[in-house]
Amino acid sequence: MTADAPTENGGPRTEHALPPLALVAAMSLNRVIGRLGELPWHEPEDLRHFRDLTVGHAVIMGRKTFDVLGKPLPRRRNLIITRKPDWTSEGCEVFADLASAIAAARTTDAEPRIIGGGEIYAQALPLATIIHLTVIGIQVEGDAFFPELDDKVWRERERRGSGHLAFRTLERVGTGS
Ligand SMILES: NC(=O)c1ccc[n+]([C@@H]2O[C@H](COP(=O)([O-])OP(=O)(O)OC[C@H]3O[C@@H](n4cnc5c(N)ncnc54)[C@H](OP(=O)(O)O)[C@@H]3O)[C@@H](O)[C@H]2O)c1
Repeated sequence: MTADAPTENGGPRTEHALPPLALVAAMSLNRVIGRLGELPWHEPEDLRHFRDLTVGHAVIMGRKTFDVLGKPLPRRRNLIITRKPDWTSEGCEVFADLASAIAAARTTDAEPRIIGGGEIYAQALPLATIIHLTVIGIQVEGDAFFPELDDKVWRERERRGSGHLAFRTLERVGTGS
């Protein structure tokens, strides 16, 4: 059986048994997601897209991404991953590893959102079932990157274009990263 073989109802066959977990990210054409702790662009339409995808959900992020935000995202459960045992911040839940953050998120959210940054995307990719990926049609210098995707594992389900932005939805059709 290959990932391309149709199912009985004609839908795509998924050869994994992972529970739902979404990655939400924006990257440039050269896969940059951040530079010097910041987003290297200002794209209000993508910020609205991000809000629409995350409000009402549990959002899981690395401590460096939280530092960029500076405060918890409103109307979302904010789960922060850090190795610093004493780290706290008001309105945030703190976890020492990704697996325990995901397990806690699932107690209230059937499809938690992983919202970065680069370290956390890379660790979460093998567990993800869907990726909401905005591709910003520019080349920029950066120091944080979105991981490469294997097209045997990830298949594009939807793509909407808006100027130099492409809003892509990729779904897992195989095992691996
Ligand atoms: N374009 C986008 O969609 C997007 C989204 C989010 C972020 N960003 C950008 O990405 C950059 C930040 O990404 P980053 O890769 O540098 O950092 P990050 O992934 O946000 O956070 C890394 C931190 O998470 C903690 N951590 C990572 N793995 C862990 C583990 N297994 N167990 C416990 N803690 C763990 C550590 O925190 P401690 O050091 O506290 O131990 C580590 O320093 C920024 O430039 C930001 O603007 C872009």
